[in-house]
Amino acid sequence: SRFSAFLRNGLSKLGFPDEGLDAIFNWVDGGKDYPKIPEAKGAVSAIRNGPFFIPLYELYLTYGGIFRLTFGPKSFLIVSDPSIAKHILKDNSKSYSKGILAEILDFVMGKGLIPADGEIWRVRRRAIVPALHQKYVAAMINLFGQASDRLCQKLDAAASDGEDVEMESLFSRLTLDIIGKAVFNYDFDSLTNDTGIVEAVYTVLREAEDRSVAPIPTWEIPIWKDISPRQKKVNAALKLVNDTLDDLIAICKRMVEQEDLQFHEEYMNDEDPSILHFLLASGDDVSSKQLRDDLMTMLIAGHETSAAVLTWTFYLLSKEPRAVANLQNEVDSVLGDRYPTIEDMKKLKYTTRVINESLRLYPQPPVLIRRSLENDVLGNYPIKRGEDVFISVWNLHRSPHLWDDADKFNPERWPLDGPNPNETNQNFCYLPFGGGPRKCVGDMFASFETVVAVAMLVQRFNFQVALGAPPVNMTTGATIHTTEGLKMTVTRRMKPPVLPTLEMPALNMNGSTSNNEDDSVLS
Ligand code: HEM
Repeated sequence: SRFSAFLRNGLSKLGFPDEGLDAIFNWVDGGKDYPKIPEAKGAVSAIRNGPFFIPLYELYLTYGGIFRLTFGPKSFLIVSDPSIAKHILKDNSKSYSKGILAEILDFVMGKGLIPADGEIWRVRRRAIVPALHQKYVAAMINLFGQASDRLCQKLDAAASDGEDVEMESLFSRLTLDIIGKAVFNYDFDSLTNDTGIVEAVYTVLREAEDRSVAPIPTWEIPIWKDISPRQKKVNAALKLVNDTLDDLIAICKRMVEQEDLQFHEEYMNDEDPSILHFLLASGDDVSSKQLRDDLMTMLIAGHETSAAVLTWTFYLLSKEPRAVANLQNEVDSVLGDRYPTIEDMKKLKYTTRVINESLRLYPQPPVLIRRSLENDVLGNYPIKRGEDVFISVWNLHRSPHLWDDADKFNPERWPLDGPNPNETNQNFCYLPFGGGPRKCVGDMFASFETVVAVAMLVQRFNFQVALGAPPVNMTTGATIHTTEGLKMTVTRRMKPPVLPTLEMPALNMNGSTSNNEDDSVLS
């Protein structure tokens, strides 16, 4: 039946009408129906409340690696099978578009790299990928260090005052500060200030997230969309962000005109290493609307994702003191009191495994969205064009069929001397950055960013979930958030003990027993 499904689809692509093919193949197959995709019935109400990917996990255990969910006239295919995921994302990626995702994100990302399809996507991907070259990523390590140091200063003050901190919002600000500098050389400085532009960015982000989970698209209702106070606020925020981006593009254009750097493969302006600067210097021939869409896309793509990874990493670590001890040992021996450098990225192996494992348990986003542009065959099942497909990375990453102790946070499952796990060496069972041609362009950037932040924070502090903190539950927008924040108590770490050597009498260990006041460590 797999063969006849292929044949049928081949003929359909050649232009044979589907109705005729249905009749012929039903006759050939002796009137048997094609294998029909299992249909999850009566479970729809479960999807309404809470993070939607949790009921999808239960349905996966019942119905398997591909099933159909129907809501009234709408239906979705839920894929949780590594080989089907590979087929959609990689082997037959040209037959799939971003579908609903592009529709939802249009108001903020336009034809930016994440929602774009077809020729526009191809051209923009080719322009943007070279901007994230090795030298750029190495320069970014310093930026990650500086921004993480600003966060450390905040935590230091909280530790002195004995005040608990809400880490999720701090991580969100950390990654906003980083991505603003990295993409268009703008210092939001959101860890220190709450300026209008920072608030506008958050208004736009929340709207994008709310739209991705809203059951009814109220923003499309005529008239209401123009008079609702909420939409007015969103439109004003969007205008402020767009105007700021236009200003930054203009400033950057002037810089490029005035510099006499030769453009080459690893081109980078040391004063402004941003992706925008690279694109303008490369002579990227693009409309200013498209450029703005791409900048906005990278701002959003690189902000919430990394913040969510850090939040869930600290949550997981708070329950696993043994992993924290391993982390601190590694950080002390690799970094001592230094800022991390690009060379350290290879050496911070355990720290990297902690991030790998955090991305397995809390993939960001938990679900990838596609729409079929042609008839296709998924597993043994023929599907028609126009199907909306959700690939549940959450299900893949937590499948009891694919992992031992799937729900357990165990960085040791990835051997330190083994390869860095990715979709290729894990056969699409592990997709932290997607796979195929639409794979994340910021994977290296994001891995280093999160490794630097984790290393610098545990280097200087111990973290515990605060006494009386609200329970840490999940909720979804595009990424997985906590419902009520991650409230933690931060204490300065004791100075790493100076190990006595034969030449050094124990008397010289002065000060190593006092437990803090080493604010000067990194300054
Ligand atoms: C795409 C994850 C950080 C830029 C993706 C995709 C995933 C992902 C899963 C594939 C989406 C799909 O196939 O539908 C992550 C995670 C990050 C992260 C977990 C942080 C830990 C970043 C950063 C940037 C970025 C820092 C920018 C510098 C992009 C872009 C795409 C993308 C532009 C679209 C690529 C395309 O469609 O050609 N990301 N990302 N991401 N990501 Fe990331």
